[in-house]
This record gives sequence, structure tokens and C-alpha cells, in this order.
Amino acid sequence: MQPVLLKPGIHWVGAVDFNLRNFHHYSRSPEGSTYNAYLIQDDKTVLVDTVSHHYFDELVTHISALVEPQKIDYIICNHLEQDHAGVLPRIVELCKPEKIFCSTMGLKSISRQFNTEGWPVVAVKDGERLNIGKRNITFLETRMLHWPDSMVSYVEEDRVLFSNDAFGQNVATSRRFVDEYERPLLLRAMKDYYNNIVLPYSPMVLKTLDRVVQLGIPIDIIAPDHGLIFRTPDDIKFVLDSYRAFAEQKPKLRAVVAYESMWGATESMAFAVGDGLDDEGVPYVLIDMQHNHVSAVMNELADSGALILGSATRNNMPMVNIAALMAHVKGLKPQNLVGASFGAHGWSGEAPRMMAEELASMKVDVVGEPVRAHFGAKAEELAACRELGATVARALKEKVKAFA
Ligand code: FEO
Repeated sequence: MQPVLLKPGIHWVGAVDFNLRNFHHYSRSPEGSTYNAYLIQDDKTVLVDTVSHHYFDELVTHISALVEPQKIDYIICNHLEQDHAGVLPRIVELCKPEKIFCSTMGLKSISRQFNTEGWPVVAVKDGERLNIGKRNITFLETRMLHWPDSMVSYVEEDRVLFSNDAFGQNVATSRRFVDEYERPLLLRAMKDYYNNIVLPYSPMVLKTLDRVVQLGIPIDIIAPDHGLIFRTPDDIKFVLDSYRAFAEQKPKLRAVVAYESMWGATESMAFAVGDGLDDEGVPYVLIDMQHNHVSAVMNELADSGALILGSATRNNMPMVNIAALMAHVKGLKPQNLVGASFGAHGWSGEAPRMMAEELASMKVDVVGEPVRAHFGAKAEELAACRELGATVARALKEKVKAFA
């Protein structure tokens, strides 16, 4: 792989992780990922972000194809999570930069993460401008999008926005630009990334998008730190519009039924719930949590407006994969969902009620009574599940109408 030209004097110098399947140890990345870093060559040579600790050699090789690493004057750290700063100590040692820029919040955390003794760290304020010769770089804080230290860097003369985690996708390909990739695959990767990482910060996303509009910043290129780069007006409009839609979280007419069965009774109830959704014309997806990762559910929720949970009761509780799913979903704070619960049991049967309470604590509109089946689900319990699916479908239609 070679450095890739974005604009004269601006190159991608990052690394592609084709085999990454476990992104940050909480989300699956079936298409791999990339750690994008960028080099700006002006009177000052500037490295924008670095890469995860496995990819030091690739970063140095790409930089070296353009300039001796020791010629780097400035390093910009838009965000100090390990995937963008994991090699920072080695890069600082190699390049001996004149200055390392981070946000004011980054200044608070950089010395906690690294031994920064002797490092020339400079905190930049929101809106501060840095002249590097013929170019000026403006730093814009994007606190909690998705860390307190997060910021983006904008090169005014080239109209390039280095957006760090914002607008990223877990995609690994030898291509670097969105217009070299299939849009449906890109959209799916964007939704997966957004819903599993950025979702809780949606209010910040909307605020940031409004700010970009207010500032009237012209943008030729959006260069995120993960995945493909947006360089055509159509693709830039696409990603900005998509992010607004993701952040608004308007409910869609589709349901996710996530379940975990022990001996098959809860699964048969899930099928019946699906039939009820179908009766009302609402499409759905069934996800067996014994065969799917929690991040797959959040991915599907991006196109849905209902989350229905089913679990057998084991030791007076929901099964462990459903419990893990509820923890994952709760932390991501999805909005505007309708929900319900069901499940089979042998003895006590607490799981359906516990799941309904957990959904309610996530501000999901829980409809219908939790449906329980004692041992195998008989005809009347399956009928109750079918009615539960139909009840969710009707409530979802009303909700979708309210947001239209
Ligand atoms: Fe928050 Fe890509 O790191």
C-alpha cells in the first residue's frame, strides 16, 4: 500500500486492518477497519493523528515514502483513544516534533495515558487557528463526539475536514475513497458504526451539524479516521444528511425480535411474534442471541422502530446473552422505540417481566403484557405472542405517523 493523495501536499498515510473483527472489544467489524492518518506538507510538515499500536511500521513506511519522519514539525491529536494514539510515544521519539497539538480536554488526559515528560504538548482552544505556511488549520472542539477530548481539524485553503471518529465506518479495502466503493455497503457500515459507537452522542451530532451549517464552512473533502474518505459534493451531502437522519432517530416501520431460547419454546414464541407483526404488515428480523453479537442488534435497530425481547428464564433471570444485549442497548441510549417481551420458563418465569422493566428504564414505550409460557409454548400462548406482535405493530405505526 502507498500513500494516497487527497490534495496537492496532503496525503493519507494510515493503515488498513483487513482482519480486525472485534472493534474496540465491544462491536463486531465484519469488514475490518482502517486507522487513517494524514500528512500535510507545507512550510511545516504536519501529521494529523496516528494509528493503533500494531501499525507503527505501516505508518512510518507511508510517511517515509513522502518525507523523512524526522522532518515532521507538528503532530495534531484530534482524539487520544488508543486506535489513533497507540503509537504516539514511538512516533514522538522518532520524529521529535516541535509541537504536539490537542484539545484542552486532551491536555488533561494525554499525560494520564502516556509518559509525556519532555513532550512539547500545546492545548488549542475551540476555533483556534494555526498557520503552517500557505495553509491555516482551524481546530473545532467536538466534545463528547465521542470523547471529552474529541476535536476536528479543518484546512481552510484546501477545504479539507479531518473529522476523526465522526463520519467513520469499519471498512477495510485497498480503495481509500467513498466513490470507489458501493454505496449500499457503505451505508450499512456507516449505520453499524454510528449505532454501536456514536448513538448516545446524537444530541452532540445535531449540534455539530448545525454549527457547520452556521459557520458556512465549505468542504471539499471529509477525511475520517476510520474507513473511506468523502471527496465528491454528492458524497459529502450524503454523509452529512445521513448523520442528521441517524441522530434524529425517527422510528422506522420495521421491528427487531431478539431472543434467546434454552430448549426451543422461546424460539417458537419469537416466530409467533413475527407472525403477529406480519399480520399487521410490519416487516421484522429475528435475531437469535446465541448466534449473533449484540452489535448486530444495534445495526438492525438503525432501520427499525421496535425492539421486542424474548428470553427463557434461567436462575430467576433472563439468559446471559439477552442480559448482555440489554446492557449494550441501554448504554447506547436509543430513542423513540416501541417494545415488548416474552419468554418460556420451567419454574419461576421472571425473565419477561424483568425485560419489560429494563426496556421501560431505557424509555422504550412498552406495549402489551409480557407473554409467558410454562414449559413448551402451547396454542394459547403462541396466540398471545401473535397478538403481542400485532400490538407492537399497531403501536409502531402510530409512532411512525407521529414522526412523519
Ligand atoms: Fe474513539 Fe476511533 O477512536
